[in-house]
Amino acid sequence: MSESKETILKLRGVKTYFPIQKGILKRTAGYVQAVDGVNLDVYRGETLGLVGESGCGKTTLGKSILQLVKTTDGEILYNDRTRERDLCKLNAREMMEVHRKLQIVFQDPHSSLNPAFTVFGSLQDPLKTHGVNSKAARRKIIGDLLESVNMRREHMDLYPHEFSGGQRQRIGIARALSIEPDLIVCDEAVSALDVSIQAQVLKLLKEIKEKRNLTYIFITHDLSVVEYISDRVAVMYLGKIVELAEVEDLYASTMHPYTKALLSAIPVADLDKKSKRIILEGDVPSPVDPPAGCSFHPRCSQCQDICRNEIPPLKRYMTNGTEHYSSCHFAEKQLDK
Ligand SMILES: Nc1ncnc2c1ncn2[C@@H]1O[C@H](COP(=O)(O)OP(=O)(O)OP(=O)(O)O)[C@@H](O)[C@H]1O
Ligand SMILES: [Mg+2]
Repeated sequence: MSESKETILKLRGVKTYFPIQKGILKRTAGYVQAVDGVNLDVYRGETLGLVGESGCGKTTLGKSILQLVKTTDGEILYNDRTRERDLCKLNAREMMEVHRKLQIVFQDPHSSLNPAFTVFGSLQDPLKTHGVNSKAARRKIIGDLLESVNMRREHMDLYPHEFSGGQRQRIGIARALSIEPDLIVCDEAVSALDVSIQAQVLKLLKEIKEKRNLTYIFITHDLSVVEYISDRVAVMYLGKIVELAEVEDLYASTMHPYTKALLSAIPVADLDKKSKRIILEGDVPSPVDPPAGCSFHPRCSQCQDICRNEIPPLKRYMTNGTEHYSSCHFAEKQLDK
């Protein structure tokens, strides 16, 4: 991670709510509060892991950053090194400019590559949109890109069905790289792959990041993947970030009972490490009607009155000389156990 800690993205009070429409009149009957007041700084050059159970809002947060879904409230400030702009307030032309710099790689390469197009056909569009007008220039760039993800130049004339899952995902990565982005959101980018292929793609993503000085937001539900790839990790629960710390610190000095429960579910190879599995009671509550107070309180074994009544803010602490954020009313007490 960069020592200077230049901030590339600042999220301030970001909310993304989806209306629930009922009846033939499509009246709004409520909202899915998918992202509910996220404050987060992302540093240039880091890999920020984003973890949490299914439905907690990880993809929605990633899409909100790229404005692929409309945010309901808050600011997303993007610093492109010359200036800082609120992505939620850009017009279409400015957004296109910014989309050169922010990219997303999804889990399923099947859905992101058009089966009717060759790789060249799929990868040339973003280049055309961004002004690479000569076909020869596009072929040169795409050939170089394919080589940079350990594929061959000739692969550009093949169709998606002619590749394996791992190769298709590498093509997806090549496409995200094609217009030289600053930041890539990887949304479960390796989750559909076999473990050995996963390891290759993760290694590749790490190498590309170093070479191109990229920043990653790495969304996954797999905590061993996050441990391998991340510099810092943000833990999400019901639309909110509940803990954020450098990866070693998150594991060594966990300050939120929810993170403890998540971590305790990973099988530990080291038998000296006594770890008691914490079973999370109950289901994830609905993001349509989240619990009052701390949204984790109905499942928390340490719940007190304050947890039922007061929303805990994400507060800054220091552990082992590094910044550590937790939104548990009893964050420091977690360190004793
Ligand atoms: N377009 C949409 N319209 C309505 N509700 C949505 C929409 N997209 C997501 N949601 C809801 O928002 C919540 C968060 O979903 P999201 O896909 O962001 O979760 P996630 O953390 O990425 O989950 P997973 O790990 O399963 O990918 C869920 O309750 C989901 O049903
Ligand atoms: Mg998702």
